[in-house]
Amino acid sequence: MITSLETLTWSDDFKTGIDIIDEQHQRLFEYFAEIQSAIAEEDEGKVEAVCRGLIDYAVSHNTFEETLMQSADYPHFEAHQAVHHAFRERAYGYLERLEQEENRMKVARTIRTEIGLWLINHIKREDQHYVPYVKRSLDRGFVARMLKRFF
Ligand SMILES: [Fe+2]
Repeated sequence: MITSLETLTWSDDFKTGIDIIDEQHQRLFEYFAEIQSAIAEEDEGKVEAVCRGLIDYAVSHNTFEETLMQSADYPHFEAHQAVHHAFRERAYGYLERLEQEENRMKVARTIRTEIGLWLINHIKREDQHYVPYVKRSLDRGFVARMLKRFF
C-alpha cells in the first residue's frame, strides 16, 4: 500500500503495458500536479475546476476500463466494477463538500491526497489483475482485424 504523496508522480512502475490505459493513467497524474499548482496559486476557481476535472476524468476512465474488461470476459469483472462504484460514490462526496465548504483549499488538498492515493494504489493492485486478460483480448481483436484486411 502506497501512503506517500511523493509517489503522486508518474513512473514506469505504474505501467500496465496497455498503451491506451497507460496514457489515461498518466493523465490522472497530470491532474494531481494541476491541483497542486492551483492550490499553490490560491486560485479557488481553478482549484474547483481541476478537482472536478480529475474526478470526472477518473470516473470516465473507470467506465472505459470496465468496457475493456467486459469485452475480454475478465472473470473478476463484477468485483472490479464494485470497487469502481465505491470510488465514484466517494469521489462525488468530495465534490459536494467542495461546493458547500468554505475552505475549498482544504477540501482540494484532501481530494489530491485521498483520491490520489486511492488511484495509485488501485493502478498498482486491482488494475494489474485484468491486464493479461485485456492484453490477450486486444491482441485477438488486432489479429482478427488484420485477418479481415488480408483475406
Ligand atoms: Fe480500475
